[in-house]
Amino acid sequence: MNILVQTKNLTKIYASEKPVAAVQQVNLSIYTGEFIALLGPSGSGKTTLLNLIGALDVPTEGEILYKGNSLSKFSENELATFRRNEIGFIFQLFHLFPALTALENVIMPLLPVKGRLEFDVEERARDLLATVGLKDRFNHFPAQLSGGECQRVAIARALINTPTLLLADEPTGNLDTQNGAEILALFDFLNQQLKQTILMITHDAKIARKAQRHLYIEDGRIL
Ligand SMILES: Nc1ncnc2c1ncn2[C@@H]1O[C@H](COP(=O)(O)OP(=O)(O)OP(=O)(O)O)[C@@H](O)[C@H]1O
Ligand SMILES: [Mg+2]
Repeated sequence: MNILVQTKNLTKIYASEKPVAAVQQVNLSIYTGEFIALLGPSGSGKTTLLNLIGALDVPTEGEILYKGNSLSKFSENELATFRRNEIGFIFQLFHLFPALTALENVIMPLLPVKGRLEFDVEERARDLLATVGLKDRFNHFPAQLSGGECQRVAIARALINTPTLLLADEPTGNLDTQNGAEILALFDFLNQQLKQTILMITHDAKIARKAQRHLYIEDGRIL
């Protein structure tokens, strides 16, 4: 199996009057095709670690290798391209644009891209919404969708650029049991059928069962 991401002594210390070591000396590898669950108590550093891996935040020490290249050597432009082309983010609170329809939300990440796109964006967005079970909801606004449906739109949006790595921060945290199970089944489908590499935060051991590998973090350290 190919190593997609490797962290080396990855450390994040938030500076304040009492500095917080949110992530400490983390060494981990993510292999192409894996579905990993990242577990740990509240405040243990899960979101911080995910944000570092997705280049939404910069480490205090250590480094992240993506396909063997150190992110610390990327320029701001290269990092933006990396985030847009390689990473798909899914958040607990969906983060959809309320004034945009489901279809427009899915297309959103591609709007800042200059020049001609190599594929029909709208057709791909429709296909993705159908894949996540929303083929009858293209023109609904987030306020007209259930929580589970909003999360499906967010998943379709995260997939629009065919990311190599899908990062999900408690994607079922705001859903009831039934909707949570359906979203989880969708992640399982993406991993098993579409070979999507996934790193998913959860603090629910039941949710984590679908994942092939479990990482536990406590006080910023991988156990
Ligand atoms: N921007 C920040 N500035 C200072 N401290 C922060 C910041 N963000 C997070 N922290 C602290 O870093 C630690 C790790 O936070 P993080 O959000 O990564 O935890 P988490 O495991 O995702 O928790 P939860 O399960 O509650 O989402 C916590 O103690 C938190 O208070
Ligand atoms: Mg968190």
